[in-house]
Amino acid sequence: MEVPVIGQGTWEIDGARPGELRAVEALRAGLDLGLTHVDTAEMYGSGRAEELTGQAIAGRRDQVFLVSKVLPGNASYDGVLQACDRSLRRLGTSYLDLYLLHWESRFPIGETMRAMEKLMDDGRIRFTGVSNFDVPQVQAAQAALRHHRLAANQVRYHLKERGIERKLIPYCQLQEIALVGFTPFGRRAFPRPESAGGRVLAGVAERNGRTVRQVILNFLTRLPQTFTIPKAGDPEHTRENAGGAGWNLPPDDIAAIDRAFRLPLGIFRWR
Ligand SMILES: NC(=O)c1ccc[n+]([C@@H]2O[C@H](COP(=O)([O-])OP(=O)(O)OC[C@H]3O[C@@H](n4cnc5c(N)ncnc54)[C@H](OP(=O)(O)O)[C@@H]3O)[C@@H](O)[C@H]2O)c1
Repeated sequence: MEVPVIGQGTWEIDGARPGELRAVEALRAGLDLGLTHVDTAEMYGSGRAEELTGQAIAGRRDQVFLVSKVLPGNASYDGVLQACDRSLRRLGTSYLDLYLLHWESRFPIGETMRAMEKLMDDGRIRFTGVSNFDVPQVQAAQAALRHHRLAANQVRYHLKERGIERKLIPYCQLQEIALVGFTPFGRRAFPRPESAGGRVLAGVAERNGRTVRQVILNFLTRLPQTFTIPKAGDPEHTRENAGGAGWNLPPDDIAAIDRAFRLPLGIFRWR
């Protein structure tokens, strides 16, 4: 199925009421612009983000590719089934498009994936996946599934954290597992405009008639089967982020960004 490469995150959309209303407005603006891949989790705001997401998608559920995640503490067989029911209630829907294990749990992966298969068989979720998994962990999750495929792995991916390009992205591409990158703007690691990398991004943005953030989102979705889910609590931010898709960075500009934000040496396990 087709899912837009730029989606919308929902971490920290909960809080004071004016901010929540703005975040719901931002999500709706994103849906209008085709950012229909919406990522949430039972963890975010202890369920509040799911409730707000439910408000944002009310009346247009069929336009949305809706993703949520089960906390590792709920990853037993019964725990997954019950957590999914709670998420569906908060989201005001009868099914999720994708349900992820948020990160590795103390429960055997086979038990968690058996519950995911039951949810798929019952039509409560369409696809299952994992999050924050390295290659061996992905392989274990794949092996644990008996009659369904692992559809996605969601991991951190931004300009200063590109290590997944070494092993994880090639593996997922080979296996036709969607790689969904989170925190595309790096939070505190966002390139400062006066830094060498920031200047390269500004130059690329100017040459392409785009903003720096649009360039970043475009770069992070340049590889096949790679998605990104920026969070914006402000409709103007959402509109800017939507402009990161629908065009291609020229090879020279990709090479310039590649040089400015080099791959790390591969010291981490999942890289
Ligand atoms: N699976 C996991 O373990 C995991 C972990 C972390 C995140 N995630 C998912 O990934 C999503 C995105 O990651 P993230 O929330 O950590 O970070 P992010 O999307 O990289 O950055 C969010 C921050 O960037 C700002 N922002 C967004 N668009 C902007 C724009 N056009 N101009 C200026 N500022 C802009 C937002 O501000 P405003 O809110 O003011 O717009 C917010 O402060 C999360 O919301 C969540 O759904 C998953």
